[in-house]
Amino acid sequence: MDPEQDRDGGGRSCCSCCLSFIFTAGLTSLFLWLSLRPDKPKCSIEYFYVPALDKSLNSRTNTTLNFMVRLANPNRDQGIYYDDVQVSLFNTNTTTNSSSLLANSTVRKFYQGHKKKAKKWGQALPFNNQTVLRAVLPNGSAVFRMDLKTQVRFKIMFWKTKRYGIEVGADVEVNGNGTKAHKKGIKMKKSDSSTSLRTYFPVCVLMNLLVFFAIR
Ligand SMILES: *[C@@H]1O[C@H](CO)[C@@H](O)[C@H](O)[C@H]1NC(C)=O
Ligand SMILES: *[C@@H]1O[C@H](CO)[C@@H](O)[C@H](O)[C@H]1NC(C)=O
Ligand SMILES: *[C@@H]1O[C@H](CO)[C@@H](O)[C@H](O)[C@H]1NC(C)=O
Ligand SMILES: *[C@@H]1O[C@H](CO)[C@@H](O)[C@H](O)[C@H]1NC(C)=O
Ligand SMILES: *[C@@H]1O[C@H](CO)[C@@H](O)[C@H](O)[C@H]1NC(C)=O
Ligand SMILES: *[C@@H]1O[C@H](CO)[C@@H](O)[C@H](O)[C@H]1NC(C)=O
Ligand SMILES: *[C@@H]1O[C@H](CO)[C@@H](O)[C@H](O)[C@H]1NC(C)=O
Repeated sequence: MDPEQDRDGGGRSCCSCCLSFIFTAGLTSLFLWLSLRPDKPKCSIEYFYVPALDKSLNSRTNTTLNFMVRLANPNRDQGIYYDDVQVSLFNTNTTTNSSSLLANSTVRKFYQGHKKKAKKWGQALPFNNQTVLRAVLPNGSAVFRMDLKTQVRFKIMFWKTKRYGIEVGADVEVNGNGTKAHKKGIKMKKSDSSTSLRTYFPVCVLMNLLVFFAIR
């Protein structure tokens, strides 16, 4: 018989067995978390067109805001379920620093596989068509702000995570042709209210490890 067990009795043995199980489970989940933790989707504005600001049309009646956003899943092992994506367009008044809501639009919810990219075309009707025309600056260009707001769940093998908030935005400059002034896509950056992906899980694991060493 194991002398250690002889001295301490069955209760101690069971307890240490239980503890090493907790410890192993903790390490395993830490490892799984490190290898499977998902990254949030990358969003960019690839196309933006306002016919009313297109001088070549000689007509200012079509004040729709037309856009295409690219949503990319950077993860190799996780799919992404997007809820409906709320698109909001603002007029950034550079002289007063204020921005007023011009229009809302929605991109329908969808699923995106590993490493996939989605191009989402959309059109937004302004609440007041005059605000679009007033957005033009003295130098002939106009600056709009576009915000995306949604929630995503990650699909990790067979289960779905809880919902994580995504809120990103970027300014887009429109030239005298009514289109995006710069050829390159505009990266949309995180706004303050996005929830962080990486808070809850490691805290549990750390607690587990701490408890283990404390009892030992
Ligand atoms: C602006 O909208 C109003 C009401 O929706 C419409 O009657 C008017 O023709 C529009 N004007 C332009 C320039 O599109
Ligand atoms: C306004 O312009 C957009 C983009 O070119 C086009 O899809 C839409 O049909 C136009 N709307 C009207 C009422 O002409
Ligand atoms: C606009 O905002 C920027 C940065 O927040 C600030 O530096 C600047 O002074 C503001 N301008 C006005 C006119 O409020
Ligand atoms: C526009 O969208 C924003 C964000 O989804 C929402 O908070 C706001 O109530 C909407 N406004 C209108 C007039 O629909
Ligand atoms: C910005 O605000 C100023 C002061 O209220 C106003 O005169 C100007 O027309 C605004 N510019 C735009 C682009 O809305
Ligand atoms: C026009 O003015 C805005 C605001 O000052 C600036 O951001 C933009 O780069 C200018 N556009 C051009 C083509 O000069
Ligand atoms: C509008 O488009 C034409 C032809 O594509 C180009 O030559 C011109 O420079 C553009 N205008 C502006 C303000 O970018």
